[in-house]
Parts: sequence; C-alpha cells; structure tokens
Amino acid sequence: MRVDEVRKVCVVGCGNMGSQIALNAAIRGFLVKNMDVKEEMVAKAAAFADEYLPGRVAKGRLSQAEADAARRNISYTTDLEEAARDADFVIEAVLERLDLKRQVFRDLDRICRPEVVLATNSSFIVSSKIADATRRPDKVLNMHFFNPALVMELVEVVQGPHVSDETAQLTMEMARRMGKTPVLLKKEVYGFLVNRILAGLMNEALWLAEMQVASVEDIDTAVTKALGHPMGPFRLMDLTGIDLHYDIAMERYRETGDPADKPSPLIVEKVARGEFGRKTGKGWYDYGRAST
Ligand code: 3HC
Repeated sequence: MRVDEVRKVCVVGCGNMGSQIALNAAIRGFLVKNMDVKEEMVAKAAAFADEYLPGRVAKGRLSQAEADAARRNISYTTDLEEAARDADFVIEAVLERLDLKRQVFRDLDRICRPEVVLATNSSFIVSSKIADATRRPDKVLNMHFFNPALVMELVEVVQGPHVSDETAQLTMEMARRMGKTPVLLKKEVYGFLVNRILAGLMNEALWLAEMQVASVEDIDTAVTKALGHPMGPFRLMDLTGIDLHYDIAMERYRETGDPADKPSPLIVEKVARGEFGRKTGKGWYDYGRAST
C-alpha cells in the first residue's frame, strides 16, 4: 500500500496516548476512528477533542474551519469491528500488557484487509512479541509516539527482523503526514532510543531523591536549568504516569531477574498510595485535580 492510499486510520485505545494520536491524525486530514472497550474512556476522549479544538482556535493555532474539519474527521466507538473494518492503517495504543496486545492484534488481523499495516505504539513491548499473533508479521511494527502526542514531534519507527522495508517506509511516511519527525531503528532494542536515554536520567534522579541528596523540586530545577530540558524527570514522570513507570520496571525485572531493574522504593510507595501523577491529581507534585 502507498501512503497516498491511506485515508482511514483506526486508533485502538482512548487513553492519554491513543486519544491524542487519533486527534493528531484527524487534524492532519485523516478520517479517524478511535476505539476503546470502555465507554467512559470513549466519552473522555470525545470530551477532550471538544475542549481541545476550540482552545486551538482561541489560541490562533487552528482556524475555525480547520477545527470543524478535524472534529468531523474523528469519531469514537466501543466496537472494534466498526473501528477497524475499513481502516487503511491501524495504530494500537492499549495498556502495556503483552497478552492484551496479542489479543487485540489477533482480532485486528481477522477484521482488517490483509494489506493493512498494524502498528503498535508500545514503548517497551517489541513488535516481534506480537507479530506472530497475526498472519501478516511483515506488516506489524512499533510506531512509538511521545507524551503529549499532539505536541511532541518525534516518532520512533522500529524495523524488527520480521518487518518488510515497505512497511517501515510506509510508517515513516505516515508519521510525516501526521506532522511528525520519524526516526528509523534498524534493530529492536529494549526501550528504543529515547526511553533508554531517559531511563538513565530517571534512575539517577530517583537514586538522588532516595538518598535525600536533594529535594524532588531541586533535582527538577537542576535538570531544567543546567541541561535545558523543558521539564525535570519528576515532573515528566507525573506527565507520563508513575504507574506506567512502575509497570515497565516490573515487566523488565520479571524478564531479567536483575534487582537493579526493580522499581525504586519511592515509586512503589507512590503507586501504593494511588498517586500516579497528573491523571490522579497528585504524584511528585500536587495538581489539585486529575487531568490528562
Ligand atoms: N496535551 C496537549 N497539548 C499540550 C499539553 C497536553 N497535555 N501540554 C502542553 N500542551 C501544548 C500547549 O497547548 C502548548 O501548545 P502551543 O504552544 O501550540 O499553544 C504547548 O504544548 C506548550 O505548552 P505550555 O506553554 O502550557 O507549557 P510548556 O511550554 O511547559 O510545554 C510540554 C509543556 C510540551 C509538555 C513541555 O514541558 C515538554 O516538552 N515537556 C517534556 C515532555 C517529554 O519529554 N515527553 C516525552 C516523555 S517520554 C515518553 O513519552 C515515552 C513514552 O514511552 C511514555
């Protein structure tokens, strides 16, 4: 399939990442169906679009006509069959659980036309662990966006050994059409490029906080003011979700058995308290109310 044949995009998962990836595609002119099994997630994603688009108009970032077109381009559903049936390109952004992803890909493989690429937004589950749940392994790959997906420019496209050149190139081109800057990874490595680099920073930051060398606020200030990052590692964890950080560390620990991969006790404590970051209204910082 050529990129100019892609009109309809299905995004599976209406969470923080899925809803923003879907809306991004709709703003860029694709006809998008954003699906989630949970009614409340679908409602939340639709409400986000209804709030976000007028905000862009008020800020002068989109014209009224562009915002209206984007809203017309996107629809929400709890029915995977309806969302994926006539899709030309699929991006999955469900929870980071291998068994769930394999089930979703099995279903997508049954529903979608055989030539359709099935991409996963997974940060840590490489597509070679999913591809064999389908009859089109050469068309299953990681297309990894960053949070917040409407803003962050980078997309990592990962060409595992089972992925055809055609699939990798089509996905690179899709990312460009979504206004992103794609990079191509020619090997499947754990954490890809960005999360490998970020993990080093976050682990050091957590160790410094655990040793009470400095406060969370001062560690963040050090990183923003000395390294020029837009936000420090703790504020960033609040944005991406401390629970996600925990899940990823636990998954890695289960795989390697290396105690160094265990989540930091500070993370375990936050998760036990249900303080996941912005989405619960409190993480390392207090936000007053839950938000995306
Ligand atoms: N959703 C959508 N748009 C958002 C947003 C959100 N949650 N937060 C901010 N924005 C938009 C604003 O609307 C604004 O857009 P505009 O300039 O076009 O009007 C723009 O981003 C800047 O926002 P603000 O002025 O309010 O705030 P900042 O200048 O502080 O920027 C930020 C906020 C973009 C989040 C910036 O702090 C940043 O880039 N932080 C780092 C984010 C990062 O590192 N992401 C990668 C995380 S790792 C990851 O995602 C891996 C994955 O596997 C989990």
